[in-house]
Amino acid sequence: MNDLPLVHIENGGVTIAEHAVLQDVNLTIGAGELVYLIGKTGSGKSSLLKCLYGERTLSHGQGTVCGHDLNTINRKNVHTLRRDLGIVFQDFALLPDRSASDNLDFVLGATGWSKGTARESRIQACLDAVGLGTKGYKMPHALSGGEQQRLAIARALLNEPPLLIADEPTGNLDPETTNGILQLLHDLVRKDRTVIMATHDHHALQAYPGRVLHCSGGRIEETTNVPS
Ligand SMILES: Nc1ncnc2c1ncn2[C@@H]1O[C@H](COP(=O)(O)OP(=O)(O)OP(=O)(O)O)[C@@H](O)[C@H]1O
Ligand SMILES: [Mg+2]
Repeated sequence: MNDLPLVHIENGGVTIAEHAVLQDVNLTIGAGELVYLIGKTGSGKSSLLKCLYGERTLSHGQGTVCGHDLNTINRKNVHTLRRDLGIVFQDFALLPDRSASDNLDFVLGATGWSKGTARESRIQACLDAVGLGTKGYKMPHALSGGEQQRLAIARALLNEPPLLIADEPTGNLDPETTNGILQLLHDLVRKDRTVIMATHDHHALQAYPGRVLHCSGGRIEETTNVPS
């Protein structure tokens, strides 16, 4: 582990369609941190996360994520940033026409792994890590919502990224399933990965405490005053 922060933003701003969604964002996140991004709908949580994974550019200021300069990220080089992080979405975003294992295999193929036993054992290791070790043959529609999200997390872990970005990962799940996913993400943090998670689930903040960043009025502020 080195001492460079995984995320560092100085005076960051995000403008969408001439509307300043976020301004004066100053943020430093290191290895092994669990960071929640909270705030009302439309407050800019997803917009910030999109900047972190190179889907949006910063309109102001500068930033780095896993050593990649956000000001020079573009469509041609964004894959180099994406290799260093995992992304998990509310709607799982799985490929519906192939099995759980093949969903993972597709990503390994696209990120330069040649076919062979190393590729197969990496798939099995990631399925095992999320508790789906015996379900690799199943199609996504034959998995429960919680299992689909576990598969999406396995996919995010394939290339062992130091940083996981999750945008409302439990937004479509019932409370019990939510708890399993939160526990899994929390276990990853204990293994020194960093998780940044946008959520409306304030129960999560109580059950699995971490840093809390509050998006409001176009600003992001760290808070200890967690809403109940
Ligand atoms: N593609 C877009 N075009 C125009 N405005 C956008 C676009 N994407 C986001 N916005 C605006 O930016 C603001 C922040 O949106 P964002 O999706 O970041 O909010 P959020 O905090 O993630 O909300 P939610 O909790 O509902 O997911 C909103 O006012 C939204 O309408
Ligand atoms: Mg959002």
